[in-house]
Amino acid sequence: MRIAILPTPEDIAVVAADRIQSLLERKPSAVLGLATGSTPLPLYDELTKRYEAGEISFANTQSFNLDEYVGLPEDHPEGYANFIHRFLVDRVDFPKGAAHGPNVWTGDNDQAAANYDKAIRDAGGIDLQILGIGADGHIGFNEPGGSFASRTHVDVLTEQTRRDNARFFDGDITKVPTHCITQGLGTIMESGEALLIATGAGKAEAVRQLVEGAISARWPATILQMHPNAIVLLDEPAAQGLELADFYREVWVKHQA
Ligand code: PGA
Repeated sequence: MRIAILPTPEDIAVVAADRIQSLLERKPSAVLGLATGSTPLPLYDELTKRYEAGEISFANTQSFNLDEYVGLPEDHPEGYANFIHRFLVDRVDFPKGAAHGPNVWTGDNDQAAANYDKAIRDAGGIDLQILGIGADGHIGFNEPGGSFASRTHVDVLTEQTRRDNARFFDGDITKVPTHCITQGLGTIMESGEALLIATGAGKAEAVRQLVEGAISARWPATILQMHPNAIVLLDEPAAQGLELADFYREVWVKHQA
C-alpha cells in the first residue's frame, strides 16, 4: 500500500485526478470504478475542471459504480446511478450508456448482482477503482463480517452506515434503505489500481485499521493490504491515528522523486 498524507481534500483531488488523467492518456478506453458519497466530490470537481479545460476526455471510457441502494425509486436523487450522473458523468463527455451501476429495479436482485459482476468482467475488468471508506471500515457497501472473496451481491447496511448516510435523506435514518447491491471484496480486489480516499477525523479509526490493523472481516477495507496496487490518499485528520505517519510521508516523497 502507498500512503499519501496531504494538507487538504483539494490536494488529494489533484493527486487522484493526475492518476486518472495519466491512465486515460495511456489507455483512453480504460474502465473506471466510481465511488459515491461525499469523499470523492472534490475529485469529481477537479476532473470536471480538467475536462472543461480540454485536458482530459472520457469519450472512450466506461465506468462502473461500486454499489446501489435497494428500495429507492429509480428516479430518487440519492440513488447512486443518479448521484454519479449529477456529480460526474453528465458534467463530462462519457458516451451515452457508458456509465454503469447495479440494476436494482429488475425484481431479481441476486441475478442483477451476478449480471453486474459479469458485465465488469466482460468490459475487461476495472483499471482504476476509486474508493471511499465507511466509519465501520466498509468499502463499497461491504460491511463487517462479509467474505473477502465475495462477488457482487445483495448486502445489508449496518446501522452505523445508515446513520452516517441519513444526511442525504433529510437526517432521517428511517428513510435510508436497509439493503444494497455492492461490488464484492473479491470483485474490488481484481481492480488494476485501488485508489482509496479518506478525509476527516470521522474516518481516523477506520484508516488506522486499514493501514496498520490486522487483516480482518471486522474491518473489510483491510483486505486492501493484499492488493498489489493500492494507494491511500488521506488528509491530516483522517491520518491522525497512524503510528508510522512520518515514515509514510517519507516514502511518498521518495516515490515522487
Ligand atoms: P462518504 O462515504 O464518502 O460519504 O463518507 C464513504 C463510504 O461510505 O464508503
